[in-house]
Amino acid sequence: MVVIPVISSKGGVGKTTVTANLCTELAQRGRQVLAIDLDPQNALRFHIASEPQACDTGLVEAATGQMPWARAIRSAHGGVMLLPFGDVDDERQIAFEQQLAHSPNWLAETLTRFGLPSDMLVVLDTPPGPTVYLQQALRAAHFSVVAVLADAGSFATLPIIERMLDKYARSRPDYFGTGYVVNQIDPGKRLNHDVFDALRQRLRPDLLGVLHLDQAVPEALASAVPVQRYAPMSQATQDIAACAQRLLERIALGQQQLQNHLSPRMEPTR
Ligand SMILES: Nc1ncnc2c1ncn2[C@@H]1O[C@H](COP(=O)(O)OP(=O)(O)O)[C@@H](O)[C@H]1O
Ligand SMILES: [Mg+2]
Repeated sequence: MVVIPVISSKGGVGKTTVTANLCTELAQRGRQVLAIDLDPQNALRFHIASEPQACDTGLVEAATGQMPWARAIRSAHGGVMLLPFGDVDDERQIAFEQQLAHSPNWLAETLTRFGLPSDMLVVLDTPPGPTVYLQQALRAAHFSVVAVLADAGSFATLPIIERMLDKYARSRPDYFGTGYVVNQIDPGKRLNHDVFDALRQRLRPDLLGVLHLDQAVPEALASAVPVQRYAPMSQATQDIAACAQRLLERIALGQQQLQNHLSPRMEPTR
């Protein structure tokens, strides 16, 4: 299993959009994909669930023993499996967060216990900024996808996410790396272009790709289907496909390097 959190320091930058559409694209390429909504907003369901309204229970119920995991995980569009966060009131949310704060490796251990196939991709949608959810996600992560906008705010807050990655993920030998998706690129905007150039300089070679500003994205959301299905020929669909391709290449490379690290080739003795 490869655990891939989608993270950002700021809200509204497209984490849920990127999570949902990457999952659909990866499943379309024949990969087994489990999407987990680790954000109390419980919004991932609106992008990919076949029946969003039925996704009012999920992770929290299963984590607290009120529902079997097998029932909490639903099938979503395009063959993706979805574990929604669930619609949870403030008291239960706080109790769940305390449980997470108390057991920092809960998510990593729970996913390991699932015994998922080794090539399964587990993609996590997360809330913005430093939270217990991000800590849990990064402790379980093998490869992180960072969503950023080509604006000054995203650029200025990048160090927050870098610090979290250093602290919880990059020190582990089974952490493959980090890839960045620059979202809502608008070629018509000069400032957008300048910030993107600066981001490209800074993030290269970890840039997975860009996602252009495209009306097909909110329209697909309003229709409760992934962009690939709503507008297969759109710029956004092409962008997501390119990001997924690069993500799979980076993961394959990371797995190869980990394999070499675990079983170094014996040097011939003279
Ligand atoms: N590339 C894009 N083009 C147009 N609208 C976008 C794009 N990416 C995201 N959006 C819109 O921006 C809003 C925030 O996106 P969302 O994925 O919910 O962000 P986050 O999960 O980071 O809070 C949504 O209304 C979404 O439809
Ligand atoms: Mg979100």
